[in-house]
Amino acid sequence: MEATTQIEAVSCHTDATGHIVVRLIDQRLLPTQELWRDLTDPERVAQAITDMVVRGAPAIGVTAAYGLAQAMQRAVAAGEAWDAAWRHWSARFAATRPTAVNLFWAIDRLAARQARDAGLTDDAGRAAGLLDEAEAIHSEDRAACAAMGRFGAALLPDSGGVLHHCNTGALATGGIGTALGVLRTALAAGKDLHIWVDETRPFLQGARLTAWECVQDKLPATLITDNMAGWMMQQGRIAAAIVGSDRIAANGDVANKIGTYAVAVLCKHHGIPFYVAAPTSTVDLACPTGKEIPIEQRTPREVSHVGGWAPAELLPPLQVAPAGIGIENPAFDVTPAALVTAIITEQGVARWPFAVDLAAMVAAAK
Ligand code: MRU
Repeated sequence: MEATTQIEAVSCHTDATGHIVVRLIDQRLLPTQELWRDLTDPERVAQAITDMVVRGAPAIGVTAAYGLAQAMQRAVAAGEAWDAAWRHWSARFAATRPTAVNLFWAIDRLAARQARDAGLTDDAGRAAGLLDEAEAIHSEDRAACAAMGRFGAALLPDSGGVLHHCNTGALATGGIGTALGVLRTALAAGKDLHIWVDETRPFLQGARLTAWECVQDKLPATLITDNMAGWMMQQGRIAAAIVGSDRIAANGDVANKIGTYAVAVLCKHHGIPFYVAAPTSTVDLACPTGKEIPIEQRTPREVSHVGGWAPAELLPPLQVAPAGIGIENPAFDVTPAALVTAIITEQGVARWPFAVDLAAMVAAAK
């Protein structure tokens, strides 16, 4: 049986007047409110990425691609000069979030397309080419998720608990997910697995988003707070861990949601395999090691207030720390390659020393 989902975090359509509309489910409000936003203004699409209305590395790339196509369609309709508009909007989307390299990879794909189309067509045709490229990025990501599912499912045990961190499912990608896609595929193939969902403080991607996906799609899952994972491992209730990634360095160091490093260290201590699933669009060969990966720092309000990430009128925040306390909020950490058992991409399974396999996989994906 093939793994599927009804959930679609990002989609795009043209309205009756032919204008591009980017549709997002507002992930700040899940699981208590399912609010779909139809965005017709590229500035709002860019802000939605920064504000985490949409999040997850591949979904950010897909959204930025649609948003850029929308921006250039509007610029052409307004009679603006192509080059100046392109410089403005590509820089605007590149400034939305710093860590997920899929964002920059998607912008580069569109940059190459508009350069290739220059002289071949008029500006309206060039803008249409960008929408075509964005749609290709989306459908390639859907296919990449399915392929990762097939490669990754074979690695997971036939039965037992699998720890999952953050949200890596349909809400974070253009398809069934990266790590959660692997779990969906293994379950659809009949493996008797149970998903242990880390809550993933402070934004609660696990408790709010992964748990919501598991309930929606009836996946066997149990939610735990982040600090329970070690105890569950010590009790023998976790047979493997699997996570996604926002950027993988050429040597296999893995940037992912804050707390991933702690999971990897716990796995090492307990002799549990630690898998990473990510498409080759997440591999950044220009970063030799994890040290070069920029780590996003987000507002202290996400830590001091549960729900502090959403508009207060839609989700009243709950203050959990006293005003005046110092707060840090790094959104990601880097897990050294030495702690990673295998990296699953849509091209296959990369193993230590990762540099060789990752370089071959990126080349094969081109
Ligand atoms: O800050 P977020 O929610 O965008 O971070 C998401 C993650 O860290 C995911 O694990 C990662 O993007 C891989 S999911 C496909």
